[in-house]
Amino acid sequence: MNQADLSRLHQQIRACQLCPLCEGRNFAVPGSGPAPAEIMLVGEAPGREEDLKGLPFIGRAGKLLDGALGQAGLERSKVFITSVIKCRPPQNRKPKKAEIDQCRPYLQAQIDILHPKIICLMGNTAAMAILGKQGVTSLRGQILQDRFLVTYHPAAVLRNRNLMEEFVSDLKKAGLMQRHLHSELFRKG
Ligand code: URA
Repeated sequence: MNQADLSRLHQQIRACQLCPLCEGRNFAVPGSGPAPAEIMLVGEAPGREEDLKGLPFIGRAGKLLDGALGQAGLERSKVFITSVIKCRPPQNRKPKKAEIDQCRPYLQAQIDILHPKIICLMGNTAAMAILGKQGVTSLRGQILQDRFLVTYHPAAVLRNRNLMEEFVSDLKKAGLMQRHLHSELFRKG
């Protein structure tokens, strides 16, 4: 049921024409991963490589994310990866508020279908779109509203490799939360 709902939603996203970003895109990038998914990672917007293939985080930032997930003991195939907006903004500019507002219901629908226990908001755009808060440096590493964990965007870590240790530690925390929630469920029967 989850998978069918997700496929239907992703078809809708691929055909979306609600904002002008659809005119310049090659492919919309709904996201990828299992359904349901215990851990969800949310970035900002697809870049050039993602737009060409329709897949999330497959460019340089994606390679860095893969490495960080590995170091954190998480398998990429077991987490759901998406971005706040699903189409590439021209020249990789920051998404506009109107684009985020138009696209947010798709992210919300993904959350409703996937029921993630932990949602990692990677970067200010994701933190702002979902929590209405900015300031990754001060918000990172904290659990907010029981299931949100703010961390750096992988592109920020590419620009400043000194952030890698904290980025990996945040992803480890997501893994720990997942295991903790599992053992809680087990204890409650
Ligand atoms: N950055 C994002 O936020 N999302 C992608 O899919 C790729 C790069």
